[in-house]
Amino acid sequence: MPKLLFMVGSLRAASASRAMAKSMAERLENDAEVSFAEIGSLPHYNADTLDDPHVSALIAAIGAADGVVFVTPEYNYSIPGVLKNAIDWASRPAYNSVFLSKPCFAISVSGGALGGVRAQSHLKYMLNGMLALVFPSLEVVVPFANDKTSNGRITDEAVLTFGAARLAEFVAFLRRQAS
Ligand SMILES: Cc1cc2nc3c(=O)[nH]c(=O)nc-3n(C[C@H](O)[C@H](O)[C@H](O)COP(=O)(O)O)c2cc1C
Repeated sequence: MPKLLFMVGSLRAASASRAMAKSMAERLENDAEVSFAEIGSLPHYNADTLDDPHVSALIAAIGAADGVVFVTPEYNYSIPGVLKNAIDWASRPAYNSVFLSKPCFAISVSGGALGGVRAQSHLKYMLNGMLALVFPSLEVVVPFANDKTSNGRITDEAVLTFGAARLAEFVAFLRRQAS
């Protein structure tokens, strides 16, 4: 089964983004091997820091994954600093990092009506800049996400069905790539 690494752009316990990631992971459990990246303990990016175990673990996790699924909230029309920090760490050496040709899927989440589309487009722009392979897909967004989060999961069945179908397309692509 393809290995999928989820990277969530929010650290808070009641995060709707984490709820969406967990909900998607559950729907994929028969089709993909899922794990979650740990980005909350990373130091601030500093090119002088050469040997940090959290950074090494993140880079190893991305390297081991067949595909990376980002689930990010929108903060001030873009992605949260904590996610940008993680991406910056994993983006070196430039154009030849662990993201080079790495298949990536972006999902966005917000408390507002637009579902974080601005953050999603920024994220895709960044991934393109790192020469990652941004999977072309209908956009998966979770608008009004806080009203749709309960017990660490998303409750909106339409959002879940649509998101799971798009991720199934991503997994099918990863399978084709492997064969
Ligand atoms: C610092 C900050 C900035 C935010 N900026 C936006 C924004 O630009 N657009 C938007 O739709 N929601 C914005 N929100 C609302 C978040 O999208 C909402 O709180 C979301 O639930 C946060 O994601 P999480 O539940 O995964 O933590 C912002 C929230 C915070 C804390």
